Amino acid sequence: MAKAETFTCSACAASFSKWSGRCDNCGEWNTISQDTPLSAGPAKKTLGARRGAAIELADLATEETPPPRTGSGIAELDRVLGGGLVPASAVLVGGDPGIGKSTLLLQATASFARAGLKAVYISGEESRAQVRMRARRLGLADAPVRLAAETNLRNILTTLEKERPDIAVIDSIQTMWADNVESAPGSVSQVRAAAHELTSFAKRKGVSVILVGHVTKDGQIAGPRVIEHMVDTVLYFEGERGHQFRILRAVKNRFGPADEIGVFEMTGSGLAEVANPSALFLSERDTPAPGSVVFAGIEGTRPVLVEFQALVAPTPHSQPRRTVVGWDGSRLAMILAVLEARCAIPFSGLDVYLNVAGGLKVSEPAADLAVAAALLSAREDVALPPDTVVFGEISLSGALRPVGQTESRLKEAGKLGFSKAIAPTSSKHGSSAGPGLRHMPDLVTFVGEIFGAG
Ligand code: TYD
Ligand code: MG
Repeated sequence: MAKAETFTCSACAASFSKWSGRCDNCGEWNTISQDTPLSAGPAKKTLGARRGAAIELADLATEETPPPRTGSGIAELDRVLGGGLVPASAVLVGGDPGIGKSTLLLQATASFARAGLKAVYISGEESRAQVRMRARRLGLADAPVRLAAETNLRNILTTLEKERPDIAVIDSIQTMWADNVESAPGSVSQVRAAAHELTSFAKRKGVSVILVGHVTKDGQIAGPRVIEHMVDTVLYFEGERGHQFRILRAVKNRFGPADEIGVFEMTGSGLAEVANPSALFLSERDTPAPGSVVFAGIEGTRPVLVEFQALVAPTPHSQPRRTVVGWDGSRLAMILAVLEARCAIPFSGLDVYLNVAGGLKVSEPAADLAVAAALLSAREDVALPPDTVVFGEISLSGALRPVGQTESRLKEAGKLGFSKAIAPTSSKHGSSAGPGLRHMPDLVTFVGEIFGAG
């Protein structure tokens, strides 16, 4: 029996039984082509018996030295990159429009150039005059950065080929236009094609390429997500518009740890590094108030103290509100359910608001106990004992699970003047230095001892 022919879309990889001009799945035109099976050819011959060159296999352990790195001189950026920029690497810096990506990268490019790298900055969004004006404002006008305003990818690649810089910044990938792709700049196929050309150029020619990508509000379709797999390192620049704090977070890094963060402050003269983020995140805190709890967290390799703020109030609505900023909404629902089911503390009929001060996004389950403490403190209108930090994971049974790196959490708390810590019973605590640790086996005990209820 003859085998059925199959067709595949090159844009979304959907499979079809017949050819058509437009993909039914992703809507792209002229992307569908017939599959040619690898084993096609004279019958009965197995794949291994035909053509193909043998690949040389190597041991897992080799003599290769770790990649050399160049520091930018901006410590918060170098940390997030895993210790500096790796030659011939492709880095994507994503973030909301207006968050400060161009500012950060112009500062970084100038820093690399001053450190002796040949650096090129290509803007597809601003004119040369605009970039120069920004550079003057940032005090970078004297840095030996080569500048261009261009969106034509072919011209850019030709120029980079000729100039052979060490590092090239492309601001932004959404404005780039490849003339061999028939769709508008900013579309998925254009963004993908431009990113592919630039990353393979980086590998081939040994040029580090940094791509700026805007996160689009409407579903992120043409956003940086579609090119995350092509690059070596993905950094996201986050922060609340109203706040001056900005967090650069590594979400993927082939050359270093992911989840590392760098903290910056947007000032009148550009982004300033924040060497001690805990002090910054707690600086907005005045006297201990009901609903406010300090969580001793870990971001990447660094301990960071952050304040959780909760507000619990009777609701005028039939469906009470649950509003969360800086934490996971479904995790909040879980903590509320555990408090109701295991400690008999109802939240029905009450609106709940939870906020992480300073605009940081916390994703550690270790924050569970701090969230529960903030909720209870707000509900009972009782402030937690002052100078106390809280951490620990809550399980659905109401038990408290220990979390990693107790030692560094306590050390950071001690450094910032906290004398007490509340944590799960089996938290490993080697030395006697730092704040006194108060152990809690489960949520019921915690509620009873701290709030005298439950
Ligand atoms: P920008 O880097 O242009 O954002 P993006 O490239 O992510 O779109 O930053 C724009 C904002 O930063 C703008 O609202 C003004 C502010 N800003 C400062 O506060 N101080 C500065 O020194 C600079 C250059 C910008
Ligand atoms: Mg910009």
